[in-house]
Amino acid sequence: MAQNRTSSTESSWEIFRKYRIDQEVGFALPNPLEELPEKYNAWILTAKNLTELIEAGQLREEVEKLPMLSTDDLQEYEQQCLAHLALGCITMAYVWNRGDDDVQKVLPSNIAVPYCELSEKLGLPPILVYADCVLANWKKKDPSGPMTYENMDILFSFPGGDCSKGFFLISLLVETAAFSAVKRVPTILSAVQHRDKESLRQALLDIADCLRKARKVFEEIHGYVDPDLFYNVLRKYLSGWKGNPKLPDGLLYEGVWDEPKQFAGGSAGQSSIFQCLDALLGIQQTTGGGPAAEFIKEMRTYMPPAHQDFLRFLETCPSAREFVLSSDDADLKEAYDNSVQALVSLRNYHLGIVKTYILDPAKMQSGEEKTEQVGQEHRGTGGTDFMSVLKTVRMKTMQSLLKDR
Ligand code: HEM
Repeated sequence: MAQNRTSSTESSWEIFRKYRIDQEVGFALPNPLEELPEKYNAWILTAKNLTELIEAGQLREEVEKLPMLSTDDLQEYEQQCLAHLALGCITMAYVWNRGDDDVQKVLPSNIAVPYCELSEKLGLPPILVYADCVLANWKKKDPSGPMTYENMDILFSFPGGDCSKGFFLISLLVETAAFSAVKRVPTILSAVQHRDKESLRQALLDIADCLRKARKVFEEIHGYVDPDLFYNVLRKYLSGWKGNPKLPDGLLYEGVWDEPKQFAGGSAGQSSIFQCLDALLGIQQTTGGGPAAEFIKEMRTYMPPAHQDFLRFLETCPSAREFVLSSDDADLKEAYDNSVQALVSLRNYHLGIVKTYILDPAKMQSGEEKTEQVGQEHRGTGGTDFMSVLKTVRMKTMQSLLKDR
């Protein structure tokens, strides 16, 4: 029996490994590199000094002076991830600079060419994505110590003081806490396959528990991220060039494409965790059309391809929800609803965060700057009306509850 359990655990980690999912940090990149081969030092140095360069009014000049480098010496996946992150940060800083109306519409070829080459290799868009600034932008201060805020730091930051650190690290810690729920995937798949109600019930209760813990971690954001700095400073550097009136046609990647291209900015909406839980619990976010379904589908294209594959894999597995529904077992239904309810509660909490960090500061400003601005502030990273999207996603989660069925 004990031997069976061991071999099934091992094979479950094989499933995860295949999709670049780590035992400890889940969808995050385990032990991100901090350095590249020497010839790329200028990229790393520039990306490390964005705030100072912006404040000194030298950022754009320095970026334009960077040498045009081939990406051929970046063979390892981890090196490519670090280079994509560094060039992503440089690109955001180059485009937005001081975060005012002086916006650059052309990314010079010395950055655009290697950046687009790397993006193609990684299957990511040439803009800073969640997989860069959260999943690959971290280190432990004491490598043998725990993954706690106190023992962690980020590799690259934007203007806004400690706001980048707070936002990126809390996102990562929510992500890793919620990953404990995803660890139940193999148990759930096996329980559905073997019609093992008790294992499934226990796994669903565990998921609910993990999500409640993730919510607790989320609450720590208030201690580390200041709403005013987030809204007025950091958010500007994460903005994209899709549906953004400041760059209505998008960004021209010089030497790569003849026409400007539009890409959505960095958002935790690009995290695989929530979409993974939706898939696992059979919550249909992408069916039926509409802006919310389109948003969820679009955000998936900003995830690393291996993680997109994992989501597709989950969606093709026999459905836990269908099994629970057909089981006619009140305890099992209750456990399923516990999981869904914990996800609703996490999404509820997230909506409260959006109010604190976007709507409230926008309202404060609207007194000064008028309603057109606030209308624009309701546009998310991909130019969508994000409040309506977020409420629809939460409603679809709630509608999946089985109580009374
Ligand atoms: C200051 C903190 C945060 C703010 C202001 C914020 C804001 C937003 C906004 C405006 C959207 C709508 C889509 C978009 O415009 O990109 C969104 C989507 C989303 N965010 Fe956040 N977010 C924050 C933190 C987080 C964290 C820490 C997580 C979890 C790791 C997270 C997970 C998500 C998810 C999964 C979506 C997609 C909708 C869903 O599946 O429910 N967010 N967020």
